[in-house]
Amino acid sequence: MPSAAPAAQRRWCQLSGPTLLSLGVCFLFNIWLLAPTKSDHLKHHHHHSAPDAGKWARCPEQPKPLHPAMAWNMTEEEKKTSIDRFARAVQIPTQSYDDNGEPNEDPRWKPFFDFQTYLKDTFPLAHEKGNVEYINTLGILNTFRGSDPSLKPLVLMSHYDVVPAPESTFDRWTYPPFSGHNDGRDIWGRGASDDKTLLVAQWEAITHLLESGWEPRRTVILSHGFDEEEVSARRGQGQIAPLLEERYGKDGIFMLVDEGSGTTEDWYGGAFALPGMGEKGYLDIRISVGTPGGHSSVPPTQTGIGIMSDIVIAMEANPFETKLTPESPYLTSLMCAAEHAPSFPSKYAKLLRHPRDWPKLASLLSSSSASEKAMISTTQAVDVISGGVKVNALPELVTALVNYRIDFSESINSTQRHVERVLRKEAKKMGLDFYGFSQDRGKSGKYVAVEIFGPALEPAPRSPMEGEAWELFAGTVRAVFNDKHGKPMTVAPSASTGNTDCKMYYNLTKNIYRFMGSPASLDRASGIHTVNERASIEGHYSVVRWIHALVQNVDASLA
Ligand SMILES: *[C@@H]1O[C@H](CO)[C@@H](O)[C@H](O)[C@H]1NC(C)=O
Ligand SMILES: *[C@@H]1O[C@H](CO)[C@@H](O)[C@H](O)[C@H]1NC(C)=O
Ligand SMILES: *[C@@H]1O[C@H](CO)[C@@H](O)[C@H](O)[C@H]1NC(C)=O
Ligand SMILES: [Zn+2]
Repeated sequence: MPSAAPAAQRRWCQLSGPTLLSLGVCFLFNIWLLAPTKSDHLKHHHHHSAPDAGKWARCPEQPKPLHPAMAWNMTEEEKKTSIDRFARAVQIPTQSYDDNGEPNEDPRWKPFFDFQTYLKDTFPLAHEKGNVEYINTLGILNTFRGSDPSLKPLVLMSHYDVVPAPESTFDRWTYPPFSGHNDGRDIWGRGASDDKTLLVAQWEAITHLLESGWEPRRTVILSHGFDEEEVSARRGQGQIAPLLEERYGKDGIFMLVDEGSGTTEDWYGGAFALPGMGEKGYLDIRISVGTPGGHSSVPPTQTGIGIMSDIVIAMEANPFETKLTPESPYLTSLMCAAEHAPSFPSKYAKLLRHPRDWPKLASLLSSSSASEKAMISTTQAVDVISGGVKVNALPELVTALVNYRIDFSESINSTQRHVERVLRKEAKKMGLDFYGFSQDRGKSGKYVAVEIFGPALEPAPRSPMEGEAWELFAGTVRAVFNDKHGKPMTVAPSASTGNTDCKMYYNLTKNIYRFMGSPASLDRASGIHTVNERASIEGHYSVVRWIHALVQNVDASLA
């Protein structure tokens, strides 16, 4: 049944999409299998593999559930308060636009100041006990200083900007996008799932701990950016992260937990928590085709637009290889499914057993859905094309912008090399000069040129799936989330095809877990980055419970 896995994953993705990420990409998770991992098999595997990559080609040890000192069984009253706080956060239209000016100048930032006021009014105790700073005016940093300065801080991150809800789409929303409407099951509105359920849960959980008399031994930091939906995040976490590095030093943070996936009750029949423990890289390029202009009454056989068309066709005809490598968290996911999911296809399990069969499995998976293919290859999307100014003049310059999401085992460099190979060959075929990425000399005549456009990101380092941080993280997940028989869920490393604000923190810690603890079974919404975004009320309680437990457990540890 080769299609079983993909179908299950697609379903999972649809279910969980709304709890997820930026950039509109469903965070796809996947399969994990029973894998006899023989490191000697791995040696022959893949020339890009890091020397120790083989250690990722297995499902990690599942730590014992780690129960926090204080459980929080919310009363009806507390639930009501919690949902009211959440709905009010959604009602503040913190839309961030790509062309926003500086925080103190552009009036479109006004709702962000309203959001800061909302936090002050709603969580006074957390403001009193913590040290709240506004970084670059709108970044929010709240530090609860621990009594033991030798313990590295825990950072809880989330962003409070939301993707704009254009007025032209308002009539397609069942409830207005900033209504925070409560239909008894979900809170509706832009930003409900991305990312205000998490942000509010973090403040609620800390507040509840403070009310119970908790005093942190380990410093806890709430860190909120306001331009997560932009690739560069230059104004928000782009300013906060360097400040934290100044304060705490390189590798000065113990653990960072940010938005990401949640749990699923049914992935190949198994119950899994799927933290994002990797993140694809990012690259945009601009391709230019230059040709002599002139009157269009005496055109060449092919204009610059025709040439660009051939180039785009050639690029799409030469996609990146799909592959399962030890660097890919997707492979780890599959290993866990093989080991822990009752209905994982035995065909997949068999292919997983030997690295030599991984290409076969990769091609089975990639033919089943675009979302799975995105987990096991560098993706390419030609997103913008422009050229020509007038219908009676030949276009002198035609450009295309192409977006890449870089595979876990690739790099910015290897992506550039692939692009150059395809373009060089095509240019040669058409008799054009070719200027690669590093050849920025004067261009003239008929040419094809390529350059990097905007910020680029290498794939994220893998988060550890062994050691103290993993045991604390996964042990807490297993204490909070059970399957339907009451047994702890399997924690299966997964990854994101989009990028989060975590990208700014690689200097600060390797212990980065992208997980917000909302159950997929409760996420009926499909509206992330589109109309009808909403987040489940029960799911919100679950996020609160998760953060409440995590803060205690990390605080109790001397790691
Ligand atoms: C939580 O509280 C509810 C209602 O107060 C109660 O019915 C339930 O048994 C409690 N659960 C636990 C685990 O204490
Ligand atoms: C990029 O890759 C090429 C070929 O694989 C290699 O020769 C070159 O040194 C690499 N450059 C960098 C900066 O890593
Ligand atoms: C990480 O550290 C390197 C080397 O010190 C520095 O160049 C880079 O800007 C830092 N990254 C971030 C996101 O601060
Ligand atoms: Zn987000």
